[in-house]
Amino acid sequence: MELKYSKITVCKSSQLAMDYKTVVALAILFLSTVSSARVLPLPIIAKPDGVVNVFDNSKYGLLQLSNGLAQTPQMGWNSWNFFACNINESLIKETADALVSSGLADLGYNYVNIDDCWEAPTRDIKGQLVPDPKTFPSGIKALADYVHGKGLKLGIYSSAGVFTCQVRPASLFHENDDAATWASWGVDYLKYDNCFNLGIKPIDRYPPMRDALNATGRTIFYSLCEWGEDDPALWAGNVGNSWRTTDDINDTWASMTTIADLNDKWAAYAGPGGWNDPDMLEVGNGGMNYLEYRSHFSIWAIMKAPLLVGCDVRNMTTETFEILSNKEVIAVNQDPLGIQGRKVQVFGTNDCLQVWAGPLSGTRFAVVLWNRCLESGTIKVSWESLGLESSTIVSVRDLWKHEDVVTDAVSSFGVTVDAHSCEMFVLTPKVPHSRV
Ligand SMILES: *[C@@H]1O[C@H](CO)[C@@H](O)[C@H](O)[C@H]1NC(C)=O
Ligand SMILES: *[C@@H]1O[C@H](CO)[C@@H](O)[C@H](O)[C@H]1NC(C)=O
Ligand SMILES: *[C@@H]1O[C@H](CO)[C@@H](O)[C@H](O)[C@H]1NC(C)=O
Ligand SMILES: *[C@@H]1O[C@H](CO)[C@@H](O)[C@H](O)[C@H]1NC(C)=O
Repeated sequence: MELKYSKITVCKSSQLAMDYKTVVALAILFLSTVSSARVLPLPIIAKPDGVVNVFDNSKYGLLQLSNGLAQTPQMGWNSWNFFACNINESLIKETADALVSSGLADLGYNYVNIDDCWEAPTRDIKGQLVPDPKTFPSGIKALADYVHGKGLKLGIYSSAGVFTCQVRPASLFHENDDAATWASWGVDYLKYDNCFNLGIKPIDRYPPMRDALNATGRTIFYSLCEWGEDDPALWAGNVGNSWRTTDDINDTWASMTTIADLNDKWAAYAGPGGWNDPDMLEVGNGGMNYLEYRSHFSIWAIMKAPLLVGCDVRNMTTETFEILSNKEVIAVNQDPLGIQGRKVQVFGTNDCLQVWAGPLSGTRFAVVLWNRCLESGTIKVSWESLGLESSTIVSVRDLWKHEDVVTDAVSSFGVTVDAHSCEMFVLTPKVPHSRV
């Protein structure tokens, strides 16, 4: 057992229960190295077998892609979920303008990512990628300059195949040329899709682009999108800055909840430098109601998922903006400890009353009480599920009401949650008097 790469890298899963105290001790030691704040001597109890360990990041890769990016999950916007192929340079510019004027850019949404359909149908005579002359007549370099001028970053898209999903030229066997082209345009981010892949394994198709991007000398965020097919959490830590864990999201409650559960499985593999990616946000696209979108955003935030807005930010409703601009929820997502929150307790019919939780810096915890049932219900988080002694005194802040609700909770905390809604909290345990 040892601290490596400034992360907690202890304990095989078979030893989880046994080593829990050590993990917590190391977590607290780790916190003491990253913040000058005094470390709280929390009373921590051993976990019974079968209980989720919210601190477990034992599978977090030792060889994270060392391009310096993704110390916290990426934030920004992507064109696909709302616009699909209906994109052009005016839209991208207006989106950059709207990110700034709405205030979203100041909250951290800084990548402006163009998805599929930016390219002309064929490469040029020299074999280089070219932007579609009808929709991007000024070229991507001019667009990157514009976006950079707003203090934002520009992302682009290709596939680790012979065509993109919308059958434009793609980058398999053209990795070095294409990476050099994007770098010369000033591109900051690549989403690399999985269409037309000739049946070659992802583990063989994705590393060449990592090396090609690196060889350009330009720091470019590398977002793998192989749809979770080959369990990328197992191998992508030293390949990309994030990896999709699932098939594409769609703007429905069924899709969002399914994807959240699939992504949860890989929680122990995420950390600074490389994140599980359950796909982009649908908040604001109309297929779910306000409370469902609030659940979507809260769960993505606590899961340390990329927060890539997928709606038309030029035309957001007040409710959409309220969700996307919740600073306290964003702060959970961007917390420097970088441990993915996970499902820790379930109750009710089909386990539809759920507690999701994860540790934060400063020996705090983020907790989402998520009601996936068709009726309202009471959901309670027990201290035991967080690894705390029942007697620990905890103060509780509500991140949607923006208020401190209790200062002296012991043993557990519960509230009534509406159907398909969630409530989100930060829990701060107090120093026991005897230890002060
Ligand atoms: C650019 O795309 C937007 C969004 O699809 C569309 O509303 C607009 O008409 C397009 N502009 C041009 C010049 O094609
Ligand atoms: C290239 O990779 C090396 C080794 O991992 C890393 O130190 C360097 O920062 C990378 N450069 C870029 C531009 O990503
Ligand atoms: C959306 O996703 C759900 C769950 O994966 C699936 O059942 C449904 O068919 C999808 N809907 C569309 C329109 O793709
Ligand atoms: C703005 O969004 C509303 C729905 O919220 C829609 O009815 C309207 O057509 C949109 N306006 C534009 C210009 O896209």
